[in-house]
Amino acid sequence: MSNRKIVAFYNKGSKKDNLLKWDKKLKKWYKNFDLVPLESKRANKADIALVWKPPMEKILALSKLNSIVCLGQGVDHIINYNQLPKHLSVYRIVDPYMAKSMSHWVILSILNYIRDYDGYRVQQKNKIFKSRDFIDFQSTKVGVYGLGEIGNVVASDLSLLGFEVFGWSRTKKTNKLFKTFYNKKGFEKVLKEVDVHVCLLPLTIDTEKIFNLDSFSKMKDGVCFINAGRGGHVEEKDLLVFLKNKIKLAILDVFCDEPLKKNHPFWKQKNIIIWPHVSAETNLDTAAKQIALAIKLIHSNEIPENKINLDIGY
Ligand code: NDP
Ligand code: OXD
Repeated sequence: MSNRKIVAFYNKGSKKDNLLKWDKKLKKWYKNFDLVPLESKRANKADIALVWKPPMEKILALSKLNSIVCLGQGVDHIINYNQLPKHLSVYRIVDPYMAKSMSHWVILSILNYIRDYDGYRVQQKNKIFKSRDFIDFQSTKVGVYGLGEIGNVVASDLSLLGFEVFGWSRTKKTNKLFKTFYNKKGFEKVLKEVDVHVCLLPLTIDTEKIFNLDSFSKMKDGVCFINAGRGGHVEEKDLLVFLKNKIKLAILDVFCDEPLKKNHPFWKQKNIIIWPHVSAETNLDTAAKQIALAIKLIHSNEIPENKINLDIGY
């Protein structure tokens, strides 16, 4: 009988050959395990599950499981499962490539907004060659909610582009490039001050539906709201209400229910730009090494980096 370690694999929405692709990349760094589909019989022997949005009841049915390694940076889909046993350790990717991708996407979104990219494309269709109104970047204050591995890069990059940036986090921080705020009072200050709101928070008990009737009503008139954190950060029906007046444009990459249903009211809303959860996708080439190392360390009874603190939820 083989003594090889088994890692169960599940990557929701991926193509059939995805396991083979990951296997090849991971084995470049660490070879002593077999990567098998979660649905296979051999998965029952797995001590580690390598997953993205897995069916949690199947994961928890793996009797030898001690660790879950997430194929993404956000782990809410794993740790917010209400029957997650305390003996399980959960790890995530932290990839500077993803932080930069997110930064590019946020910059793309804000620049399109302030330079009226869409307006010029309509003009082009109609062969109109004239200048349009624009929003001055120097007087555009941007709030970045969440100053972690991603938010910190986004806030810094926006600041270097000339925006006045207000960052918000759970714990107190200082930064040379942008203003920092924390706690409820800090949240209210950012809500009230900025012209563009960018949500890059993890979804936890404390941040669920943080953008709701109350918080939207504290924003200035005519703001832009960008969400690439999680759909669960937003009370979607409240956003629809405020899109009628206060919020000029919402740019959304994440939704409560993904994929977004065909009959969801967001599709019809003229001032929402919809992206299908692609602002910072996991990159096999840059993520494989750290995942392979995490598997290796778990197999040697050591603790890899980027362990999730289950008590605070991220
Ligand atoms: P981190 O865990 O590194 O950072 C989280 C940040 O949020 C920290 O600054 C933390 O504060 C802050 N935070 C957490 N809870 C609160 C709270 N209650 N009040 C105020 N601030 C809070 O996460 P990442 O930067 O790696 O990722 C953030 C999220 O981005 C992910 O959880 C995921 O949901 C999303 N994401 C989306 C992607 C996409 O394609 N749309 C891709 C990748 C990630 P503190 O620093 O004080 O701890
Ligand atoms: C992630 C994501 O959290 O892709 O990595 O959303």
